[in-house]
Amino acid sequence: MNVLLLGSGGREHTLAWKIAQSSKLNQLYIAPGNAGTSSHGTNVDLSLSDFDTMFTFVVDMSIDIIVVGPEQPLVDGIFDYFKSKKETKNVIIIGMNKEAAQLEGSKDYAKSFMMRHNVPTAAYKSFDATTVADGEAFLETLNAPYVLKADGLAAGKGVLILDSLEEAKSGLRDMLINNKFGAAGNQVVIEEFLSGIELSVFVLTDGEKYAVLPEAKDYKRIGEGDTGLNTGGMGSISPVPFADKAFMDKVISKVVEPTVKGIKADGLKYSGFVFIGLMKVGDEPLVIEYNVRMGDPETETVIPRLKNDLLELFVAMDKGELDKVEMEFDDRYAASVMLVSGGYPESYEKNKKISGLENISNTIAFHAGTTHDDNANVLSNGGRVIALTSYGKTMEEALAYSYKAADIVKFDKVYYRTDLGKDL
Ligand code: AMP
Ligand code: GLY
Repeated sequence: MNVLLLGSGGREHTLAWKIAQSSKLNQLYIAPGNAGTSSHGTNVDLSLSDFDTMFTFVVDMSIDIIVVGPEQPLVDGIFDYFKSKKETKNVIIIGMNKEAAQLEGSKDYAKSFMMRHNVPTAAYKSFDATTVADGEAFLETLNAPYVLKADGLAAGKGVLILDSLEEAKSGLRDMLINNKFGAAGNQVVIEEFLSGIELSVFVLTDGEKYAVLPEAKDYKRIGEGDTGLNTGGMGSISPVPFADKAFMDKVISKVVEPTVKGIKADGLKYSGFVFIGLMKVGDEPLVIEYNVRMGDPETETVIPRLKNDLLELFVAMDKGELDKVEMEFDDRYAASVMLVSGGYPESYEKNKKISGLENISNTIAFHAGTTHDDNANVLSNGGRVIALTSYGKTMEEALAYSYKAADIVKFDKVYYRTDLGKDL
């Protein structure tokens, strides 16, 4: 099969690494990819927002599967675009129609989906510029801390968690009246604060049959002890020790099944991943958010633990046969430590030469933000630069290998968190 994989981060390098191992693969193209993806396929310079140019490439290269890494093309309607053209209507698209992508693209859409289909989640109400006073009155009925979410995509920055009622009211006005998050904040979801521990669960589904992938824990904040600004993710661990069989059975019966049934009941067209962000509150799973793609950096530990051939899974999904697939996971732990550019998630420098990549053993370096120079040096090209993933019989062993590699892979002003796993 010929595959076009869209994206350029650690998630996409990991997917490229996995797809390259498939017995079904003929050619793999990654658009735009990074220095790491180029060792598993051909990087191509396609814009993810220019569907017409992509269409020509897909037809010319006889692409059989388009794997969409990030959410934006899905929210922009890439699925509907390719399915509407006679030349590409049979191409398998790891994605979903534009409406279904609203499960990630609109917090209000996602919350009303959850309510409609009895998926456990925090109580909420939505407000817009015409109902600011109602929003303030609603805040007065809640207890601190207050959770405010910009409705639209805001690159992970659209959630405010505020300790005082006054801050919450002014946060609400900032979003709805002062356009703090631009159009993403034209509508705001205010919800009950959930106190618990988070984990990420991944499901592949055609909207009827589904397969559950290994779960993972993501470390979102920049600082040790989960402090400081939110980032794209500073590392991940899979499996999650507190997600035992009894809990995961509950996740499947109370969250995954109603979600998949809801997709079908609402007539959504789906052939991709559902990433379920969960809070374990006591022993109960509550949904914090849906994403319509794999997580990053969760992919860097989830996919290395998947033993099944990924393209075979995609084909089984396309045939409606996911229930016949036996999912096989590596029993070992996988841990991934993200090396980031100094200053990230605020301003940082790029084009730092990365050394030591050839000197690591027991660890896979998934490139998150890298490029090549003319002399084939690998250079940093983003905030998150390299995800160092290792396996171990225990979580501690997996982490120890990754931290050993983090001592070897170097670039100017590199930073990483040294406390992953300590909360588990
Ligand atoms: P989201 O973009 O919806 O994933 O929210 C970003 C982060 O805010 C989550 O990963 C949680 O850590 C936190 N968060 C979101 N909603 C809640 C909530 N209702 N209660 C507590 N924390 C939350
Ligand atoms: N790791 C969180 C995300 O991919 O959104």
